[in-house]
Amino acid sequence: MTPRLGVGMVGYAFMGAAHSQAWRTAHRFFELPLTPVMVVLGGRTPDALRAAAERLGWADVETDWRRLVVRDDVDLVDIGTPGDTHAEIAIAALAAGKHVLCEKPLANTVAEAAAMAAAAAEHPELVAMTGFSYRRMPAIQLARRLVEQGRIGTVRHVRAQYLQDWLADPQAPWVWRVDREQAGSGALGDIGAHVVDLAQFVTGQTVDGVSAMLDTFVTERPVPSSLHGPGGTVGADSPMRPVTVDDAVAFLGRLSGGGMAVFEATRFAWGRRNQIRLEVNGSAGSLAFDLEDMNALSFFDATEPVETAGFRRIDVTQPQHPYGGSWWPAGHALGYEHAFTHQVVDLVRGIAAHEHPAPTFADGFQVQRVLAAVERSAADDSRWTPVEATA
Ligand SMILES: NC(=O)c1ccc[n+]([C@@H]2O[C@H](COP(=O)([O-])OP(=O)(O)OC[C@H]3O[C@@H](n4cnc5c(N)ncnc54)[C@H](O)[C@@H]3O)[C@@H](O)[C@H]2O)c1
Repeated sequence: MTPRLGVGMVGYAFMGAAHSQAWRTAHRFFELPLTPVMVVLGGRTPDALRAAAERLGWADVETDWRRLVVRDDVDLVDIGTPGDTHAEIAIAALAAGKHVLCEKPLANTVAEAAAMAAAAAEHPELVAMTGFSYRRMPAIQLARRLVEQGRIGTVRHVRAQYLQDWLADPQAPWVWRVDREQAGSGALGDIGAHVVDLAQFVTGQTVDGVSAMLDTFVTERPVPSSLHGPGGTVGADSPMRPVTVDDAVAFLGRLSGGGMAVFEATRFAWGRRNQIRLEVNGSAGSLAFDLEDMNALSFFDATEPVETAGFRRIDVTQPQHPYGGSWWPAGHALGYEHAFTHQVVDLVRGIAAHEHPAPTFADGFQVQRVLAAVERSAADDSRWTPVEATA
C-alpha cells in the first residue's frame, strides 16, 4: 500500500461530483505513488451535505470549510465552489500547509488571483493547481506534443470557441453564474477561460494583447423557487433578478510567438450544448479538436505529397497516446469525466515528485490577467489592450 493522501473537498454539486468521481477512480486505473483517501466533504447545509458525502464516497463532513482546511488528516484541499470563495479558501489552506486544487477561473478578480499566486509562491513545498480540466483530454495533450515536436511548424493562427446554449431561453432561471458578485464574469470567465488556457497550452505561447467585445442579451431572469441545487422551478409569477455578467464574448488576441488568435465564448449558441473547437494552423500543418468528437484529433501534415495530403482523424485511444493503456482497450471511448481523473493523476504524481504540475496558480493568475484585459478592452470600444505582465 502506498502512503495516503488525505483529501478534503469543498462543494458537492457539479464539480463536486466530477472531482469525487476522479478521487474514487484515479488510483484504481493508474499506478499512483500516493493513495487518495476521501477524508472529508465541506458544505453549509448539514442534511444535504451528509447525503452528498454518502452518495459521493466521503467519510466525514464539515459544515465550515475553515475547520476542514486545518484538519490533521487532510493533506490536500480541493475547491469546487463558486469563484467568490476561491481566494479565501485556497489561501487559508496553503497557510495551514495543505496542497490545493482549485477550480477555474482561479478567482473573480486579478487582485484575488495575485494574492493566491503569491500565497502559493510563499509555500514552494506545496502544490497549488488550477482546475483547467480540458487540458487533460488525450487529444489536447497529443496536440501539445505535436506542436512541441514541430509537426505543424510556426503557429500562425488559433481559432478557439466554447459554445453553449443553456441561457439562450430568456426564461432560463437565474443562477449564481449570472451574478458578477459570485461568478466574477459570465461566459468570459466560466467558459472563455477554458479556451484561453487551451490555446496557450497547445501553442506554448501566451495571449499578450486583445481587442474584445462582450454582450448581455438577456438582462434579467426569473428566480427559481429553489436557488440551491437542481429542481428549482420558475413560473409566470417568479420574481426577476438582474443579470450582471456577459452572456457572450468575442475577441482577437496576439500570441507571444507572433500568431493571431480568435476567441469566442457564448451561452447563446442554440444547439451547441457544450462544444469546444480548437484549430491551430502552423507553417507546416494544422491541428483541429472538437469536444463533440473528443476521442479524436485532426492533423493535416503539409509536408506530405499533395496528392494524398488531407486531414487525418487520429483515434487517440491507443496505449501510445497520452493517458492511454490505463483505461479500456483501444477504440473504447473516453468521456468528459476522464479528464478530471487525469487531473488527479497528474496532481498526485506531482505532489509525490515535489514538482508543480501545470496549470499552477501562477498559470491561473496569468489567464485571469487575459480575462481582465478582455473586460478593459470591451469597456473601451474594443481598443487594443495589452495583457498586463503583473497585477
Ligand atoms: N473544470 C470545469 O470544466 C468546470 C466545470 C464547471 C464548473 N467549474 C468551476 O467549478 C466551480 C464550481 O462550479 P459548479 O458548477 O460545481 O457549481 P455548483 O453550483 O454546481 O456547485 C457549487 C457548490 O459550492 C457550494 N458552495 C457555495 N458557496 C459555498 C461556501 N461559501 N461554502 C461552502 N460551499 C459553498 C454549493 O453549496 C455547491 O455545493 C466554479 O469555479 C466553476 O467555474 C469548472
